[in-house]
Amino acid sequence: MSDQKNSTHAKDTGHTWDDNLRELTNQPPRWWMISFYLSLAWVVVYFVLFPALPLANSYTKGILDWTQMKEFQGDLAELEKIRAPFETRIAKMPVSAILGDKELSNYSVQSAKVLFGDRCAPCHGNGGAGNPGFPVLADDDWLFGGKIEQIHQSIMNGRRGSMPGFATNSTPAEIDLLAQHVLALSEGGSNPVGRNLFVNKGCAGCHGMDGKGLEMMGSANLTDKIWRFSPVTKDSVKHTISHGVNNAMDKNTRNAVMPSFAQQLSDAEIKKLAVYVHQLGGGK
Ligand code: HEC
Ligand code: HEC
Repeated sequence: MSDQKNSTHAKDTGHTWDDNLRELTNQPPRWWMISFYLSLAWVVVYFVLFPALPLANSYTKGILDWTQMKEFQGDLAELEKIRAPFETRIAKMPVSAILGDKELSNYSVQSAKVLFGDRCAPCHGNGGAGNPGFPVLADDDWLFGGKIEQIHQSIMNGRRGSMPGFATNSTPAEIDLLAQHVLALSEGGSNPVGRNLFVNKGCAGCHGMDGKGLEMMGSANLTDKIWRFSPVTKDSVKHTISHGVNNAMDKNTRNAVMPSFAQQLSDAEIKKLAVYVHQLGGGK
C-alpha cells in the first residue's frame, strides 16, 4: 500500500499493541481529506440556503425561504393547472356528452375514484360491489335505470323506492301464496293462485304484469336472482310483502334510501361520479 513506505518516517503516537503494532500519525489519503472539506463546505452552503437549526420558538430559515409546505403547494398548483381545462369543460357539458368524449370520460373515472371510495363505498361497497341492504352498482341490474342521465339523477336527487305493507289487508295464507309466486318468478316459473293475487292486490301496478319491475317506480325486478333484501328465504320475502319498503306506517318496514348529494357535492363531482358508476360494468 502506498502509505506503507511512509510508515518508517512518520512519527508514532506512542501507542503500541502486541509489541509490534504501532499507531502512526500519517495524514489520511488525499481523496479522503478533499471529501472531508467538501462536506464541511456543503454544511455551510446548506445552512445558508435552507432551514437547518431549531431555535427556541422558531428555526433558522435559510435565504431561499424554502418550506416543505410551499413545495407541496407548488406541486398542487401545477396539478390544478393541468386539471383546470377538464374541469371547466365538465362544468359546461351535459353528462351524456362527457361520457361520449373519451378523454373527458377517462379523466372523470380517474378523478371520481377517490370520491366514490369516500362517499359511496361505505354503503355500496368498494367498486360498487354492493353490501347487504345496498344495491350493487357494478352489474346491469338497475332499480331506477342504468342510462347515464338516470344514474346522474339517482346521485343528484337521491332515490327512495316505496312499497306499502300488505299485512293489514291480506290473510297470512295470501301473503304465503304471494311469496311463493315471487320465489317462483325468480326461478323462471309462476304460482297460478299467487299470480292472480299479484294482479288483484296491485303488485303488478308497480312491478309490472311480468314482475320485471318499473324504473319509474324503482320497483325491483322480481324475475331475476338478484335480491335487494337478504337473506333470501321465504320468510324474508314474506317480511317484505307484509311490511313494505320505506313504509312510514310500519316500523318493521324495509328501509332503502339513497341520499341526495346535490347539497354535498359540486355539479362537476356528481357528473364525474355518474360517469364512474356507468363504467363500473352495467351502464346502458
Ligand atoms: C347511506 C347509504 C348510501 C350512500 C352513502 C350512497 N348510496 Fe346510493 N343508494 C343507497 C340505497 C339504499 C339505494 C337504493 C335505494 C332504493 O332501493 O330505493 C341507492 C341507490 C343508488 C343508485 C341507483 C341504483 C339503481 O339500481 O338504480 C345509484 C346510481 C347510487 N345509489 C349511486 C351512489 C353514489 C354514486 C353514491 C356516492 C356519491 C351513493 N350512491 C351513496 C344508499 C346509499
Ligand atoms: C307502490 C308500488 C309497489 C307495490 C304496490 C308493490 N311493490 Fe313490491 N316493491 C316496490 C319497491 C319500490 C320495492 C323496493 C325496491 C328497492 O328499493 O330495492 C319493492 C320490493 C319488493 C320486493 C323485494 C325484492 C327484492 O329484491 O328483495 C318484493 C319481494 C316485492 N316488492 C313484492 C311485492 C308484492 C308481492 C307486491 C304485492 C302484494 C308488491 N311488491 C307491491 C314497489 C311496490
